[in-house]
Amino acid sequence: METIWGINESMIQDNYDKMCKWAANYIIAKINAHKEDRPFILGLPTGSSPIGVYKELVRANKAGEVSFANVVTFNMDEYLGLPKDHDQSYWYFMHDNLFNHLVDMKPENINILNGMTDNPEEECANYEKKIASYGGIDLFMGGIGVDGHLAFNEPYTSLASRTGVRDLTTDTRIVNSRFFGNDPEKVPAQALSVGIGTVTDSKEVLVLISGHNKARALAATVEGAVSQKWTCSALQMHNGAIIACDEEACGELTVDTYKYFLDIEKKERI
Ligand code: GLP
Repeated sequence: METIWGINESMIQDNYDKMCKWAANYIIAKINAHKEDRPFILGLPTGSSPIGVYKELVRANKAGEVSFANVVTFNMDEYLGLPKDHDQSYWYFMHDNLFNHLVDMKPENINILNGMTDNPEEECANYEKKIASYGGIDLFMGGIGVDGHLAFNEPYTSLASRTGVRDLTTDTRIVNSRFFGNDPEKVPAQALSVGIGTVTDSKEVLVLISGHNKARALAATVEGAVSQKWTCSALQMHNGAIIACDEEACGELTVDTYKYFLDIEKKERI
């Protein structure tokens, strides 16, 4: 389905829980429909936004509704300098919130950038090669920051960027300091991250946008110009991008945009 904004679909749900349920159902349906010999390649984010999706994926996996035995995952990013066992590393987050609870996820199928690498450039180049070796990513789920960053691609990162080292902005370190004792100085200053080009090379991209604090970012993603100021706006150039959002995140959309998406997607509201 094409829209005049280029975002193929935007699922507006009543609240965070329903947004997560819808997104999880979408992922489950895609995995179950995957009949090729090669594994299903799933890109995954961290942050608060996907937690409800992971809970639902775990529930469905335990209930036998979806198997991860033929799923290979690639995570979006990792803080540079945090060891795996640090409770704020994204390795730790992913195992704590998802991988440790799936009954048939194979550890060798989990790919997360190594934040303790002594050769970040090589680590990132190898990550790109590994994604390519599988034939690319089938579905990349993402979240966005309040400044519209996708993975750790802060404002003014090239929309053609590939996996690499990223400097985090002061704003992002302040926002993420809620996980580091509210001290922005404790938030690592750099991260390894897939690029915007890495994400948009995926066959499909599903981005979760929830809450009032993401309202400006959602409007920039859907209604704004394609611009490296809002790296999430690159989704407008993708032919398989879906935004799953909740009512709260819609606060900065024009009434016309809001009504448009409600109109075309009302059948799928849960
Ligand atoms: C971090 C991550 C992003 C994530 C963003 C938003 O900066 N690197 O990948 O999308 O936070 O997180 P949240 O979902 O907690 O708002």
